[in-house]
Amino acid sequence: MRIDADRLWSDIEALSRLTEPDRPWTRRSFTPRFLEGRAWLARAFRDAGLTTGVDAGGNLIGRREGAEPDARPILIGSHSDTVPSGGRYDGILGVTAALETARALAEAGIALRHPLEVCDFLAEEPSEFGLSCVGSRALAGALTADMLATTRPDGMSLRDGLRFVGGDPDALARAARAPGSIAAFVEVHIEQGRVLENEGVALAAVTDIVGIARWRVSVSGRTDHAGATPMPYRRDALVGAAALIRRAWDMANAAAGDAQPLVATFGRIAISPDAANAVPGEAVLTLEARCGDEARMAGFCDALLADRADELAGLRVSARAQKISHAAPTPCAPVVRAAIHGAAGDLGLSIRDLPSGAGHDAVWISRLGPVGMIFTPCREGRSHAPEESMTREEAADGARALARTVLRLDAALA
Ligand code: GLV
Ligand code: MN
Ligand code: MN
Repeated sequence: MRIDADRLWSDIEALSRLTEPDRPWTRRSFTPRFLEGRAWLARAFRDAGLTTGVDAGGNLIGRREGAEPDARPILIGSHSDTVPSGGRYDGILGVTAALETARALAEAGIALRHPLEVCDFLAEEPSEFGLSCVGSRALAGALTADMLATTRPDGMSLRDGLRFVGGDPDALARAARAPGSIAAFVEVHIEQGRVLENEGVALAAVTDIVGIARWRVSVSGRTDHAGATPMPYRRDALVGAAALIRRAWDMANAAAGDAQPLVATFGRIAISPDAANAVPGEAVLTLEARCGDEARMAGFCDALLADRADELAGLRVSARAQKISHAAPTPCAPVVRAAIHGAAGDLGLSIRDLPSGAGHDAVWISRLGPVGMIFTPCREGRSHAPEESMTREEAADGARALARTVLRLDAALA
């Protein structure tokens, strides 16, 4: 079986050209640009001989039948959406490497025992709805009615967003897969860190995926005239937000040396009225905490608000938080990790174990069966930024490792 490095690279480049022109590399889920990417991928999946469609959860899935009719499918893939001004490889490498694996199997005339499903999961990145991993949650039966009712700033509900991408919010129950219904899931992804590059190691087998909790934090004060309101009378919501941001930074830094470090980020902020000459009356922020220790992660926002209660009261503003999402830390399955190590050995590629500080669809798919991830190097660990970069050979090694892992799992799993 031969992975065609040039073909894989030209797929990655073709998808990268489907970007918002003035904001590379941006292909946000639930946008017309995202559907252009999806149309490109659906055509490529079909050309690879895969029976292709969008499931109720908005996932694009291409399927190749296996020789054993009752065998459960092996899933491979990742996501084709990007963060705003994101990169060309986060997610895209995993989808194109999976496509290339399907093509290589077909060209080599290899019949697997198991069906193979190539997946482009919907909206792995947090979209304008604020929720990440929409498609993989749906596949795992974890996309709830509350989540479907979430709206984005233009008023569209996630329920309507699902229809926009070809999903069916009314058929989610039927489309959800049962626990134990997949043989395995494997995803190739750039490391998004610099360990592999620094150590000159070709690949990593992911040991576990960090937990992620997100909250919407609203700080309320009072809008007033920015010139005519003396300082002692102000109730500036943005100053309250600044106190929270600074304290979250300090709390996370204090935990930096822990066995399970915690990282915290306020990645979004919107103030109103958002005018140069008005005291901000309201600030709405998104707080994210990630940690391998679920209890510390889950309690982070409450701990932060309690810690700053006196300071906020002194500023005469109030803060409240609403949980947006919670993904538990997830171990990768020993059987998949072993197959990945075996695959690297088959290919003569160096490999090490690494935890993932990024979230991935594998977290949700782990409810359905054993999951594993293969990391490739990326330049200087840059990711979620336009500078995200990797080489053609690094991408091809990721695909080669994926293809070998599939062969090993196909032989090893029931
Ligand atoms: C996924 O990209 C994440 O936010 O970790
Ligand atoms: Mn990402
Ligand atoms: Mn990703």
